[in-house]
Amino acid sequence: MKIAFFDSGIGGITVLHEAMKQLPREDFVFFADTLHVPYGTKSKADVKEYVKQSVETIREEEVKALVIACNTATSIAVSELRNTYDFPIIGMEPAVKPALEISRSAGKRVLVFATPLTLKQSKYTQLVSRIDDQRLVDSLPLPELVELCERLNFESQEVIDYFTEKLSSFDLNNYGTVVLGCTHYPFYKHVLRSILPNHIQIVDGSVGTVHRLAVILSEAGQLHADGNADTKFLCSSQNPDYIRKMEKALTFIQNHE
Ligand code: DGL
Repeated sequence: MKIAFFDSGIGGITVLHEAMKQLPREDFVFFADTLHVPYGTKSKADVKEYVKQSVETIREEEVKALVIACNTATSIAVSELRNTYDFPIIGMEPAVKPALEISRSAGKRVLVFATPLTLKQSKYTQLVSRIDDQRLVDSLPLPELVELCERLNFESQEVIDYFTEKLSSFDLNNYGTVVLGCTHYPFYKHVLRSILPNHIQIVDGSVGTVHRLAVILSEAGQLHADGNADTKFLCSSQNPDYIRKMEKALTFIQNHE
């Protein structure tokens, strides 16, 4: 049985990459909903339907757990999915809590990057209002970054100009952490590292998510299959060019730790 990963596009590969490191004896299947990427600028109702259709396809693959490697899909559909399927479903949310702890102790603020749809959901707004009693968290939607990412445009001048423009209204000295609250964004970690002041820590949820996946599988006695971190890539458009794109994206993230 395999561990399945799901995202609108190539973003979830950043989480798959972490799983390959933490769980090298497992095999994986990665599904991208290429017919509908990007999710972050679409309506909640549409995304809910796309996620449902995608998970129906994924379940045909003998899976022992499913990671919704997409903050947007998680914020919209995770509860319903958990009520529908009997395999464990692990979701993702922007790692605001650890970021807040780091920033607070440095007397600084938190800047959360995510899709417009994630930032609008009550799952996100309630999370922030629950833990941010000093109002230290600011949010910045970066929808165009998903589009750049889907073109494997990871390190061009266009990317640097994009971040420079988006961050121009923030005084970065006031921030201690930047949260990558969309799984597409960790492809830009190294570019961000060169743009952001050194004191800012970049936080993303992949390590914690994969750790939770490992705990859940271990508790179910389903860890340590005889796998080899083999990955089967699938996409809703069944386009072989996109499968190659996913393989390239995985190689990129493996080479840019
Ligand atoms: N990778 C996704 C996320 O984590 C969604 C990006 C998109 O499709 O807009 O939110």
